[in-house]
Order: sequence, then C-alpha cells, then structure tokens
Amino acid sequence: MDTPYYFYDLGLLRRTLEAVRSEADAFNFRVHYALKANSNPKLLSIIRAYNLGADCVSGNEIARALEVGFAPPDIVFAGVGKTDAEIAYGLNHDIFCFNCESLQELEVIDAIAASLGKCANVALRINPNIDAETHHHITTGLNDNKFGIGIGDLGEACDLARRLTHIKMNAIHLHVGSQITNFSVFFDLCVCVNELQRFFEQQNIVLEHINLGGGLGVDYLEPDTHAIADFRGYFSLFDKALERRKNQQVHFELGRSIVAQCGSLMSRVLYVKKTQATEFVVIDAGMTELLRPALYQAVHLIENISRVGEANERKYNIVGPICESSDCFGKDVSLPKTERGDLIAIRSTGAYGETMASEYNLRSKAKAFYSPEP
Ligand code: LLP
Repeated sequence: MDTPYYFYDLGLLRRTLEAVRSEADAFNFRVHYALKANSNPKLLSIIRAYNLGADCVSGNEIARALEVGFAPPDIVFAGVGKTDAEIAYGLNHDIFCFNCESLQELEVIDAIAASLGKCANVALRINPNIDAETHHHITTGLNDNKFGIGIGDLGEACDLARRLTHIKMNAIHLHVGSQITNFSVFFDLCVCVNELQRFFEQQNIVLEHINLGGGLGVDYLEPDTHAIADFRGYFSLFDKALERRKNQQVHFELGRSIVAQCGSLMSRVLYVKKTQATEFVVIDAGMTELLRPALYQAVHLIENISRVGEANERKYNIVGPICESSDCFGKDVSLPKTERGDLIAIRSTGAYGETMASEYNLRSKAKAFYSPEP
C-alpha cells in the first residue's frame, strides 16, 4: 500500500458505537455524531447504522450527511458563520434544528425562512463562560471566544425570538470545548444549564430540547488501554447533575470520542538523519495529513510497526517532509532502532486527522484503508 494512508479499525468503531448507544440509551439521551471529526463516507454509513443523528457545521456537511442516509429530522446545523445559501439549504431540507450563535443570525434565519415559507427550529447557542481546561485553541465556552450568545444578552435574544414569526425557539445549545478530560467541567456545565432553565421558565419559554455539545476526551497516550472512552461515566454524570424537565429531550454532539481511537496514520521512514544536535526520523506523512501536532502541540503515540518487540530503543525526533519547522510529530520519542523503509503508526488519528488534511506543497490526499469486516 502506498504510504501515507489512514487505516481504520472498523471493529473498534463498531464496539465504540455499541458502547455509546447503550450508555446513552440508558438515560434516553440522543447523540448526534459531529461530522467535523471525520466525514469519511464509509465510517459515516456505519455510524448512521447505529441510529445516531448528525451534527453539521456547513452546507457540505449537511449534504454529506444526507448522502449517507441521515434523515433530515436527525440533523442539527451549528456554526458561527452560516451563509445565507447554507441556511436556505438547511431550511429546504427541513433539518431538525439550527444552533444559532448570535442575535444577528436569528434575524437572518427568520428572514430566509419567511422568504421560503418555512419555520425554522432554533436552539440558542449560549456561551456560559466556563473554562474547559483544554488547549486554548479548542476552548469554546469563554467570554472571549467567538461562539454563542453571552448570558447577559439572553433577555434581548428572548425578546427578539418572541417577535420573529418564522422561527421556533424551543431549545438551548452549549458546547464548551473539546478533548475535555476533567469531568468537573461537565458538572459545571450542568450547574449552569440548571440555572438557565430557571431563567427561560421566567421568560415563559419552554425548552423542549437541551443540547450539551460534545467534548468528551480520549486517551492519546494509552490508546490500547482506553480504546473506548468512558461513556458510562460521562452520561451518568449528566443524568445525576442535570435537572431535566418532564418531556425534555437531552442531546449530545460527540465527535472525537466516537472515531479517534479507530484510526491510525500509517507512514514509511524515508531517512534516519543524524545531526550534531539530534537524530531525526523523516517520515512520508506530514502536517498535511495530520495537523494536530503542529496546530495544538498535540501528542500522539507513535509506534514502529516493523520492529514491534525489539528492545534497542533510542530517542528520535519524528518529522515530516513539509517545508515548515512545525512539521514535527514528536520530540524525544522512544522507538527501537529505526531504519529507512520501516512502517510507522501514528495512533488515535481517527478524529480531526483526515478532515483537517490539506494539499499544502501540492501533496496528494492520503487514501484510507479499512480492517476487514466480518
Ligand atoms: N459541537 C460543537 C458545537 C463543536 O464545536 C464541536 C467541536 C463538537 C460538537 C464535537 O466535539 P468533540 O466531541 O469532537 O470534542 N480540531 C480540534 C478539535 C476541534 C473541535 C471543534 N468543535 C482537534 O483536533 O483537537
């Protein structure tokens, strides 16, 4: 197989989906898969078969979700900068809900819905000013983040929603960040939502749906020990801490925790290059295939598949071929003595790997291969 390529373990994906479904079903929670994590059609068809909804952030993601068989009533549309054409596309397909990020957007959705003779279901995305305690680039719920409507602006948002005749505002949406490993962040989110529920009741607005976003983190350092995220702990925390109202549906938008561990980026060693300062392993995958280390200093487990079990370990800097110094997958990585032609696996790359790839340096897109299905 030509390297670099993505390899997906579909058995692990299925086991993960079984776990998500059974743990969410236990509390009657509805899970929408966040397509931005991985929109590979083969994976999406499997995810769809487990009866998850779809969380989309562009018209093209909605189109992809529809193509692989997600039904419009199972599709939510989020994003701080939806274009008029994307809003019209969502309305024309009668999607379940628009997660609306500003007062201005409420007015635009209302106007477009009016022109199409439609009524849009809208969830107000609220920015709760909660620190997700994750990398600052993937923190979304703080006051200085661009996302959502601040708590101080909610009164005005409710007044506006009451005046607009082509939207139905019956839901709220919150997403405070990604790769969250400290569960107390989710507890704080519940405390905030409980207060918000009281606020909306005072406004005489009935919240039929509460969407709590995604964010559940995965174990990048020990992917084999924790191949499946702690869905039980995650959902049971929400079940305990959230004051649900009767007939209220609670939704989640999980991306990373569903697909991260089933993917590995496979690459060959081009050169082992010794300098005065260090020893580099130059592989044929770069930041064009996996941007996370360059963008977020993300750490992924790196393994030399050609030398499993060999003991003569050394420390290497693992770098790609791209003309950028940030094109580095790891410093001081311990690997058995590595040679040109060895096969390297960069683990836990099923989420935000393929979807964030680019053609920088006119690179070709990496192909995907899959474990055999039973
Ligand atoms: N809902 C909303 C509104 C989001 O913005 C996101 C992710 C999700 C759900 C899914 O979150 P998850 O369950 O995957 O944490 N590229 C970054 C992650 C960016 C996350 C963006 N929003 C990375 O590679 O770490």
